[in-house]
Formats: sequence, structure tokens, C-alpha cells
Amino acid sequence: MHAEIVVLPGDGIGPEVTAAAVAVLRAVGQRYRHHFNLHEHAIGGAAIDACGDPLPEKTLAACHYADAVLLGAVGGPKWSDPGAKVRPEQGLLALRKAMGLYANLRPVQPHPATLGAAPIKPHLLSGVDLVVVRELTGGIYFGDKTRDGGSASDVCRYSVGEVERVVRRACELARERRRHVTSVDKANVLETSRLWREVATRVARDEFPDVTLEHQLVDSMAMHLLSRPRSFDVIVTENMFGDILTDEASMLAGSMGLLPSASLGDERVGLYEPIHGSAPDIAGRGIANPIGAILSVAMLLRHSLGLAMEAGCVEQAVSATLDDGIFSAELAHGHAAGTREITAAVLEHIAADCHVAELRD
Ligand code: NAD
Ligand code: IPM
Ligand code: MN
Repeated sequence: MHAEIVVLPGDGIGPEVTAAAVAVLRAVGQRYRHHFNLHEHAIGGAAIDACGDPLPEKTLAACHYADAVLLGAVGGPKWSDPGAKVRPEQGLLALRKAMGLYANLRPVQPHPATLGAAPIKPHLLSGVDLVVVRELTGGIYFGDKTRDGGSASDVCRYSVGEVERVVRRACELARERRRHVTSVDKANVLETSRLWREVATRVARDEFPDVTLEHQLVDSMAMHLLSRPRSFDVIVTENMFGDILTDEASMLAGSMGLLPSASLGDERVGLYEPIHGSAPDIAGRGIANPIGAILSVAMLLRHSLGLAMEAGCVEQAVSATLDDGIFSAELAHGHAAGTREITAAVLEHIAADCHVAELRD
């Protein structure tokens, strides 16, 4: 197949992990005879430096034309002055909004080989398999913001339609899994959460009678996620709660560097990025974990290109690499592998273990 893929490396470790992801994408393309045309564009701080705009028009136009977009990370201390007029993060938020990517899927499946590296007891982690569906284009991130002398405000707003579509997405996903959805809100305090709960209850009851829905308040959910992670299947929640809970959930897997994500809307095109940021504390040292970015390629292949076998091949190669005990610094006890070493190991497994049906005989 032919696919136009936009690559947005961004800032900090973004370009480092994106280079790994692109190498994997190219290897899959060669192995399975797909033509992936990659187009690299600027976003975030790199784009501010180049042209003063964190989402240049050229970048957005390329994304609108693409079959899928692969992103590294944006942001960093260079652009983080509290008084800054323009910020790298605005570019990413504007891109999600412009592409209508309202559902952000963040799967968490701790790998048996890294259970010992996570700060949670291994017996709580084995068998954990959950997906957070984070609402991505609404809520407090996108409400009016004001700064007036000694006070500031950020408005949190949700419409019925915005809640319906993301809850539907979560319920559809649950149907392919264990048919259980946990909706997370703060309905004991927030009006937006009371709307969220009301809509989630109606959508699940009327449209998904085969799916069970439970509600949790976000504060105790932060605890349940660590104390009984195995009991969750699909978790659906609003934008900011989802942001926070998924960084917490990364500790079930053992590292922020392991988790991928897919941001989806009503079209097939999606934006794929690891959940971590630009990690300024380790940028430029060649030690960033590329697995979250590489697994984002698997999600891209599956969700935007419909290439389930190829996606499975990438996931298998990552799993085999971890089975080999090849860990980056934040996970390793002994030898720590760098970004390139991990990528090379994944590529070797793709070459050795991924079989192309028509080439087999
Ligand atoms: P971060 O995710 O960049 O880093 C948090 C911690 O996790 C750091 O200690 C970092 O070294 C570690 N880490 C993250 N990714 C790693 C990887 N692949 N391998 C090994 N260790 C990894 O979060 P932060 O420090 O709070 O934010 C830094 C910047 O990144 C900020 O400007 C923030 O806005 C931005 N950010 C961007 C995105 C994105 O582009 N999607 C996501 C989150 C944060
Ligand atoms: C993420 C990041 C972003 C978010 C920032 C960089 C805007 O933290 O993708 O998780 O909060 O959505
Ligand atoms: Mn985040």
C-alpha cells in the first residue's frame, strides 16, 4: 500500500525517539513491500525558532493531507518562560484540535520482563491490560483563559456531544476487549463532571447494554489504579484527568518511555506519539527509551493504515527485545542500552521474526 506519513520530531528527546520510530516504519515498509512516503515538518519549539509559530501553516497543511502523523514531543526550558507569548505546547494542542482528534488511546500492558523495574509490587502488575481513552479536544485545556492583574482563570467546558462521542469510542473499544468501562470524573464537585456522568450513563445504557459501566471519582481512582490495576479494562475520562492518570499509569509499565498513544477522530487519519514529553533532563545523551515511540508506530499501522499484521510484528519485536533484557537506563539494573542499541535490537527482531506470507515458500 501507499501511505503519506507526516513526521514531526519536535524538541528535546523528540527527534531521538522519532528517528528510532522512523527506522522501524521504514523496516516494516521494506519487509512488507509498502510505500511509506515520509514528510518531515517542524512543530513546537523547533518551529518557534524557525519561524515564530509552534504550528506553521505548512506543517498543518501537510497533516491535513496525510494518512497519518507521527510525533515525538514538544517543549523545553528554552521556551518555558512564564511570560512567553508563544509556547511549543500550543502547537500540539492546536494540531489535535484542527484535526478533530478527540479520543486519545493510551494502552498500558506491563511487560513481564519489566515488572521488577516498576515501583509497584510485581504481583499486582501481572495480567494488567488496560486502555485509557482520554478526551483530547475539550475541557479546561481549551476553555477561555484570562489573566487580569492578580488573578487568572481557565474555564472548563464540555458539551453533551463532546462527551457522547468519546464515551461511545470507549464503549466500542470495550466491545473488542473485556466489555468493562470505568468512567472517571469529579462529579461530587464539578458541574462538567455531573454532565459527563449523566451522558456516560445514558450512552452506555441505551447503546451498549452488553458493556458494564462503573463510575469512579478521580482522586480515589488515582489510588485504585495503583492498588488494583488488573480490575480495569477501558478507562474513559476528560482531558486533564486523562493526562495526569496516564503519567501515573506509566509507572505500572515501569517507565514513561514505554507508553504509546493514538489520537483519533472520525476520520481514519490519526496522530501517534509516545505519552512522554521532551525530557530535557536526558535530551541529547542518546539514552532516551524509544519504545513508546516505536509502539506508537504499531498503533499507526493498525489504526490509520489498517495493517494489523504489521502492527503485531512491531509489537512482537518490542516484546522480544525486552525479553532479551535490553533495557534503557531508567529501567536497567545492570547494563543500560542506549536509544540506538534498543532500536537495533527491535530491527533485528523484525528482520528475524516477522514473516511475510508470500515470501515464506
Ligand atoms: P517528560 O515526560 O518530558 O519527562 C518526565 C520524566 O520522565 C523525566 O525524568 C524524563 O527523563 C523521563 N522520561 C520521559 N520520556 C522518557 C524516555 N523516552 N526515556 C527515558 N526517560 C523518559 O515530562 P516533563 O519533564 O514534565 O516535561 C518536559 C517538557 O515536555 C515540557 O515542556 C512539557 O510541556 C513537554 N511535554 C510534551 C509532551 C508532548 O509533546 N506530547 C508530553 C508531555 C510533556
Ligand atoms: C501529553 C502532554 C500534553 C498534554 C502537553 C505537552 C500539551 O502532557 O501529551 O500528555 O497535556 O496533553
Ligand atoms: Mn501529559
